[in-house]
Amino acid sequence: MKWMIVKKAEELANVSYQLMKQEILRHPEGLTIGLATGSSPLGVYEEWRQDELDCRHVTTVNLDEYVGLSPDHPHSYHTFMKEHLFDTVTFKESYLPIGNTADSHQESERYEQLVRTLGIDIQLLGIGSNGHIAFNEPGTPFDAKTHVTELTESTRMANQRFFDRLEDVPTEAITMGIGTIMEAEKILLVASSERKAEAVRDMMEGPATVDCPATILQRHADVMVVLDEEAAGLLS
Ligand code: F6R
Repeated sequence: MKWMIVKKAEELANVSYQLMKQEILRHPEGLTIGLATGSSPLGVYEEWRQDELDCRHVTTVNLDEYVGLSPDHPHSYHTFMKEHLFDTVTFKESYLPIGNTADSHQESERYEQLVRTLGIDIQLLGIGSNGHIAFNEPGTPFDAKTHVTELTESTRMANQRFFDRLEDVPTEAITMGIGTIMEAEKILLVASSERKAEAVRDMMEGPATVDCPATILQRHADVMVVLDEEAAGLLS
């Protein structure tokens, strides 16, 4: 696991975007990028929107979507990605799991096949304060494929800021599994703020355990972690 510690959020966004951009430029023939939602990638997406990089050869696949929300729901991850990236940057194709299908398990299987067929060249990740990656909560097996997962109370509370009330935060999501994420060629994980310090320390210095899903990344051959000083605050 390689890592970089920067002083401020703007620097974190800039450094991380430049790493993504390098990959895009390295693959003029086309590539697939895995994307995340939440606060962590917001700065990266802002840098991306401001750059005039040609991304028409880039396919994107997102990590997850809430079960029950239609793509055009104001709080769906489809809408989040449109607002923060897709409305401004033109990609070849962009995919997210569909949250409001009749059968979420079948949708998970379809999405797993899609991701496997595309093959992810670089996956952008955030980390939950309980160590989750995508919506693989503590206890998820390391070889999990894309699946439907119940969100923990702490994750729902952390994500409440995007909704009006806690009751509005969905209780389930479709998420790429840990095994799916581990198939990506490269992984770029970004984390900022003191809120993430404990999870970051466990991910980088603790034993690999399903109690902290991000610890699996210790076993991936090409991971770059970009942290601000607060998120790195508990590293020895
Ligand atoms: C989002 C995702 C989640 C977030 C994590 C951190 O697509 O997969 O794992 O990366 O919950 O969220 P933020 O960045 O909002 O702190």
